[in-house]
Amino acid sequence: MLSQQHSDTQEPREGFASKVGFIFAAAGSAIGLGNIWRFPWLVGAYGGAIFLVIYLAIIILVGITMFMGEVTLGRYAQRSNVGAFKKINKSYAWVGGIGLIAGFMILSFYSVVGGWVIYYFIRAIIGFGITDPILTDQLFGGFISNPILPILFHAVFMALTIWICYNGVKNGIEKYSNIMMPALLVIVVILAIRSMMLPGAAEGLRFYLVPDFTKITSKTILAALGQVFFSLSLGMGSILTYGSYLGKKENIPQASLMVPFMDTLIAFTAGLVIFPAVFSYGFEPSSGPGLTFVTLPAVFSEMPMGNLFGSAFFFLLLLAALTSAISLLEPIIAYMIEEHGWNRKRASLTLGGTIFIIGAFASLSMGPLSGFKIADLVFFDQLDWISNNLLLPIGGMFTALFISWIWGTDNALREVTNDGLLKFDLGNFWANIMLKYVAPALVFIVFLAGLGLF
Ligand code: PFF
Repeated sequence: MLSQQHSDTQEPREGFASKVGFIFAAAGSAIGLGNIWRFPWLVGAYGGAIFLVIYLAIIILVGITMFMGEVTLGRYAQRSNVGAFKKINKSYAWVGGIGLIAGFMILSFYSVVGGWVIYYFIRAIIGFGITDPILTDQLFGGFISNPILPILFHAVFMALTIWICYNGVKNGIEKYSNIMMPALLVIVVILAIRSMMLPGAAEGLRFYLVPDFTKITSKTILAALGQVFFSLSLGMGSILTYGSYLGKKENIPQASLMVPFMDTLIAFTAGLVIFPAVFSYGFEPSSGPGLTFVTLPAVFSEMPMGNLFGSAFFFLLLLAALTSAISLLEPIIAYMIEEHGWNRKRASLTLGGTIFIIGAFASLSMGPLSGFKIADLVFFDQLDWISNNLLLPIGGMFTALFISWIWGTDNALREVTNDGLLKFDLGNFWANIMLKYVAPALVFIVFLAGLGLF
């Protein structure tokens, strides 16, 4: 079980009851809006299957390596984000700092989308009753551009997140993640089957599964890299912090394979729901952040027991979004408590409140403030782009470099194998090749190319 963070480091640190607890909590952080909302819209916007292929390659080359790195560092240090870096070398606290800023920015827009989910959950209970794609499009566009309504729902989502963090994360995550994640997977699979039976679904499957290699651009690769970090909750200390709660006897490599696997499975299946429907209803796959929200109501409206499936789906998505949101807020709270002596109440309310206000502007940028653009992006998209495509990869790259060059691969290997007790055949390859060279170099190259620097 997760404990509340203690400012008093003398107290023994509670951890998860079991490895399964860690897996579910880390999966709770990883699985969220990123899988069901952000992944399909990026696939659609960046040319379909080619994005999927690049995404999978990056998960294997960078994602799993980094994930294991963060868990290992966290468990060794027994501290959350910034503290873990400090414990090893005081001058590198800033690496954790990059992640904290990213988390702050991500939660600001994440909570707005969380608010959309609450609204759609309520609409789904009533029943959407609209099979006409033009109308589901209008429903979504009308809702997010409203100056008040989405901010109210964003407030509810943020209040829930603050409330859970304020009461301490204990008793929560581990318990209901056990039921929620498998339930979400089951319902996504049912929806995928339904969606693939729609007339014209094959064209959607082709778009999603048959890559067109002429569509590769450096921007596509950067977007896929950003999505890997976002979806696996890497680069901002969430996984590092959960790693610090993992028992010293547990098998880190095993746990670190399970979570990316489940995360990728859910994102992949979400694509099987969205794209057949997108093509069947004649939506534009590249329509952006609204893709999931315009497609699903049409699916639910024409399917038997659509109200039931629709409301169950949005409810599970809401829970998945909340467990991710907690993992975004908790490291920042833990930092203010551990490093600046704030109490939990002050940290939750002040940080949560500030994030709410920034998020309110992000919401307004979809409507009344949509005229204010920088580099053709409204404020909502800027928060998303800067945090995911810049801060997470940079934070992640420095984390990998920090682990392998500053802390040292020997130390990392000792921790990951539980002091040599555990057999991890690929350990050397992981530490001395992937973490030390391949992952940071790839991130660096993709990053520079994506920015158009070469
Ligand atoms: N991984 C979450 C998702 O896919 O929805 C979002 C997220 C959570 C990103 C925590 C980053 C993070 F640290």
